Amino acid sequence: LPDAGVAALTAGDVALLLPRPDARSDKYRRGVVGIVAGSRRYTGAAVLCVGGAVRGGAGMVRYAGTAEPVAGVRARWPEAVVTELAPGEGVGGVGRVQAWVLGPGLGTDADAFAVARSVLAGDLPVLVDADGLTLLAEDRSLLRRDAPTLLTPHAGELSRLLGVDRARIEERRLEHVRRAAAELGATVLLKGSTTLVAQEGRPVRVNPTGSPWLATGGTGDVLAGLAGALLAAGLDCYDAASCAAYLHGVAGQDGPLAAGDVAEALPGAVRRVLNGLRHED
Ligand code: APR
Ligand code: MG
Repeated sequence: LPDAGVAALTAGDVALLLPRPDARSDKYRRGVVGIVAGSRRYTGAAVLCVGGAVRGGAGMVRYAGTAEPVAGVRARWPEAVVTELAPGEGVGGVGRVQAWVLGPGLGTDADAFAVARSVLAGDLPVLVDADGLTLLAEDRSLLRRDAPTLLTPHAGELSRLLGVDRARIEERRLEHVRRAAAELGATVLLKGSTTLVAQEGRPVRVNPTGSPWLATGGTGDVLAGLAGALLAAGLDCYDAASCAAYLHGVAGQDGPLAAGDVAEALPGAVRRVLNGLRHED
């Protein structure tokens, strides 16, 4: 029997939800996404996350980070507006954005905490991924905010957030993604071979796209940047997460691939969906 609390996401849903630029568009109206990601050790996460946003069609991407990831982002993405942060500095000086992405490769030290706190204290939608989720698991009070929050864990990250064994989550993913949305008061995108999106009061969306080729380091960082761009464009957390999962899966349908290839394939994925093609066409 079909579960009334579950909805399979279709290409048609995504085509209707995806923002299309029109004659009145400018880069601000299309959405400015702020990205706080990367660290001395994980410069690549910053580059991939910015890539997901740039190739995903953001109006503008503002990246903020410390010296090493800043150098990487500058070298790879001239489209991004880059702010170098001193260690421990917050995002107050970054300029206006409409949504934030927080966490890929950020690290979990005191400086990471400080910048995370400055992002989450604001009144903008925030997507939290990767190390940002580890920080939230350490201090759940960071989740007490008025603006919407989108969490994008894999099962291991969700395990730490809920205090439930990873194996138990893998056994009953639907139950745990629902429980996470309710307990954490956030929209939750649970990654894995099938990606689920949960928000209280809405059916859990099941993403049909993607392939095992996506199981390679850094593809999650690309997804975070893409979903952040859609949040900044004005989609709510539930729709931004769903559309991002769908497009990321289309971009990762054929392998072999590296995470950077997924970002490069995003424009083609968006075109296919806007042209009314289903992922299997
Ligand atoms: N089939 C389809 N899709 C898959 C599969 C699979 N078998 N395995 C993974 N994926 C997809 C997920 O749905 C998700 O979109 O690939 C992406 C992987 O994202 P993450 O799990 O966030 O992995 P990523 O961040 O890219 O790389 C590993 O995670 O645990 C951390 O610190 C670790 O940096 C490392 C990172
Ligand atoms: Mg990840």
